[in-house]
Amino acid sequence: MDAKSQTPAVNLPPVYSLIARHEVFPEVSHDETARYNFLANLNRHLATYISPGNKIAFDKRVQPNFVAEHGRDFQTRDEVKEAMKQDPHYQSWAALRRSTMEMRQQGGRSMTLRQAEDLAKKVANLNAKSPETLILDPNLKTPYYLSIMDNHCMPGSYHTELFEGDVSNAANYDSGLFVTSGGMLGKYTDGGGKAIASWVLSNAPDFKPKRILDIGCGIGHNTLPLATAFPDAEVIGLDTGGPMLKYGHARAVALGIKNVKFMQINAENLSMFENESFDWVQTTMFLHETSSKAMVNIGNEIFRILKPNGLSLHIEQPQYTAEMPLYEQFIRDWDAFYNNEPFWGAMHDVDMNDWMISTGFKRENLLQFGARSINDNEDHTKPKAPEVEDHGRSAIWNVFGAWKK
Ligand SMILES: C[S@@+](CC[C@H](N)C(=O)[O-])C[C@H]1O[C@@H](n2cnc3c(N)ncnc32)[C@H](O)[C@@H]1O
Repeated sequence: MDAKSQTPAVNLPPVYSLIARHEVFPEVSHDETARYNFLANLNRHLATYISPGNKIAFDKRVQPNFVAEHGRDFQTRDEVKEAMKQDPHYQSWAALRRSTMEMRQQGGRSMTLRQAEDLAKKVANLNAKSPETLILDPNLKTPYYLSIMDNHCMPGSYHTELFEGDVSNAANYDSGLFVTSGGMLGKYTDGGGKAIASWVLSNAPDFKPKRILDIGCGIGHNTLPLATAFPDAEVIGLDTGGPMLKYGHARAVALGIKNVKFMQINAENLSMFENESFDWVQTTMFLHETSSKAMVNIGNEIFRILKPNGLSLHIEQPQYTAEMPLYEQFIRDWDAFYNNEPFWGAMHDVDMNDWMISTGFKRENLLQFGARSINDNEDHTKPKAPEVEDHGRSAIWNVFGAWKK
């Protein structure tokens, strides 16, 4: 604490007990809570005190050594990666960052597996109360870009069911995102959805969407804020992950949100939806998990199903541009190599304006803006330390999109 200003030296993550519970939220024991608190704080410690040392190592050692050896500066972020991989400070930070993710996944996995049958029963009971708003397709094939690895080290990824009706992975996802994000996404981990709903309400007050599609909705963390902000709209969340949808639907029923439907569909083929049938198509932290080919298909489908004067928005971490220093590109790209996000780098290299225009949007109707999580865990009455950039993890996003005019 700075004695004069009372400003803390670091903003500590909120305690895990602040997370909002609902009927299908897993039971978290005292020790499991302590483990999650430890990991959230370790993540914050790494971002605040250890990660800045990577830049110092780059400036003081890695770059000068490279220039001395090669007679020129770095030309690609891959060259930066190969050189930084030899640096002991970077090695320590990267190993710890990877370990916190593995520990968080294993902590959530053991917690949800010990109660997997209870969770499955609770979810089935809630889903039976509103069967018409959960449309599953047990024959849907999981796209290869989701099945070839465990996304962000989550064992079994989004699609695995260990027994009929198992939702333990989805419950793990729900309970553990608080740890990775340091609680910055709010009590219901919905700060992104709230931020985008708030942007639309203030920037397009005359826009009254009747049908909203949230592609890659997961368990609906960021879908439900859209349904709440636009209570007269029909909101559809779609995903390929059956367990995510079962859990997400039960969560929505438990939270009393009625204008939302969950559907198991691959976003690359939306032929069940007619041309021009949605007012708003949203994706949140989704595109980076798909392949380059899938992005083309998904982009074309979004444009096709959007009504004239409709809106499409995409929330992601910032794209890599020619103006972004190679060091920053390299550090932001860490997840691609060490957090099982193999499409992360390729997606962040795409020029999103070109992508949107290639699907049919006009350049003059493109949008781009920043969004910050609306975080109800924050205590706005207390002084805050300056914010720390946790590259690739911050609850501050780049939003791009377009009106279809
Ligand atoms: C990182 S999660 C984001 C979930 C959610 N949007 C959120 O903000 O919490 C990405 C989700 O996209 C889904 N997904 C990936 N590719 C998909 C595809 N082709 N069609 C439908 N869903 C897909 C995954 O199953 C996963 O649930």
